[in-house]
Amino acid sequence: MNVVIIGAQWGDEGKGKIVDFLAADAQIVVRFSGGANAGHTIVLGEEKYALHLVPSGILYPDKTVILGSGMVIDPEALFNELSMLEKKGIHWQGRVLISDRAHIVLPRYREMDRDAEAQRVKPIGTTGRGIGIAYAQKASRDGVRLADMDDDDRLVNLTQEDRAWLVRWREKLLPLCVDLIGYLRQHRNSWRLFEGAQGALLDIDTGTYPFVSSGMSCAAGAAAQGGIGPRNIDRVLGVFKAYSTRVGNGPFPTEFVDDSEGSLSQYIRKVGNEYGTTTGRPRRCGYLDLVALRYACAVNSIDRLVLTHLDVYDGLDEFEACIGYRIGDRVVEDFPASIRDLEQAKPILRTFQGWKTNLGTCRTYDELPLRAQEYIEFIEEFVETPISIVSVGSDRNQTIVRESPWIK
Ligand code: GDP
Ligand code: IMO
Ligand code: MG
Repeated sequence: MNVVIIGAQWGDEGKGKIVDFLAADAQIVVRFSGGANAGHTIVLGEEKYALHLVPSGILYPDKTVILGSGMVIDPEALFNELSMLEKKGIHWQGRVLISDRAHIVLPRYREMDRDAEAQRVKPIGTTGRGIGIAYAQKASRDGVRLADMDDDDRLVNLTQEDRAWLVRWREKLLPLCVDLIGYLRQHRNSWRLFEGAQGALLDIDTGTYPFVSSGMSCAAGAAAQGGIGPRNIDRVLGVFKAYSTRVGNGPFPTEFVDDSEGSLSQYIRKVGNEYGTTTGRPRRCGYLDLVALRYACAVNSIDRLVLTHLDVYDGLDEFEACIGYRIGDRVVEDFPASIRDLEQAKPILRTFQGWKTNLGTCRTYDELPLRAQEYIEFIEEFVETPISIVSVGSDRNQTIVRESPWIK
């Protein structure tokens, strides 16, 4: 069975936590896109793990995790992460594989990424990890795949310096290489999770272009880049927060703006610890945007949603969520492509009553206060997609499963 998990907003929705939770029942976890721009956090009691490249099933001793074909891999970042895991007692040898179709991030790409940002009048606010450059090199057919690292014919267009650097890393990388498609074919009866990075609104095609990342973070990415065909995807889960966040620049129609919302923003950033896992930048915060969420569901065939960070609203008397945009004199119900429209959009808000209770100890849907259930059920109805899992804290066990994705 193949279950795909993607972010349904602008990243950092809690994908790492949910993939880790669901990986208990899987044998293989494939991360299908992005690179060291991602930061996926897993919390187990007192221990916290921030993963950037390694898929989120790694904490279980018996799972195989695979860095998929759509990923762009910075070997230095990867081996730093693997040694961090080793130091924490996670033995990864023999369990971490890399698709030989994945691309390499050369060290100069990071510098080129930062230079490109410095040249832009309106910077994107990239993570500076060379991601956009790696995907641009791939698209212009100047990239280097792992499969070609030891084929001198394929490296003739690289500089002397690049080649020397590659020679240093390939001895460490080659033993991890796998033909992902062949591997998954051989393990066709296994249960696999396909872990997305970033989110629907940061996807190169479906996101708020050009304020996006450069990989495929949409569900379709799991097919071409995760090593299976589109008709082999059994279920698509979209993870979203009870509110919205965004790191980096770009339109954000429901961002908290004025003075009163400023204090709400500070509250959420503090209670939700909304600082980037990769760069430490404070995340921009805003109301849940149901127009954007409905768009993410439609464009990704999300058949079940996972709601996270519901506990962050525990202390509020009331809160709001966006159910439409006002753009000039128009009321807009579908997420627009135009950046100008998104920048001018004013959210139409609906108010919800808070529950003023600690949700962190709830383990079943029935234990959730009625007002929390009302919020959940309103969202389900608005976006016409059931919410099958609710997360009420960062720990693995702070998770309420209404319906397991592993049932066909
Ligand atoms: P990802 O990129 O989608 O994997 O998300 P990140 O790890 O970048 O950011 C999510 C943050 O929220 C992490 O610090 C998680 O530990 C934390 N988190 C995940 N789920 C919940 C939740 O339900 N409630 C709270 N309060 N924190 C959560
Ligand atoms: P996870 O997987 C949130 C954002 C950056 C920037 C834009 C482009 O942890 O959800 P890039 O370095 O990719 O060229 O930056 O995309 N971005 C993310 N924001 N979560 C992520 O990953 C992100 N990966 C990239 O902040 O706005
Ligand atoms: Mg993250």
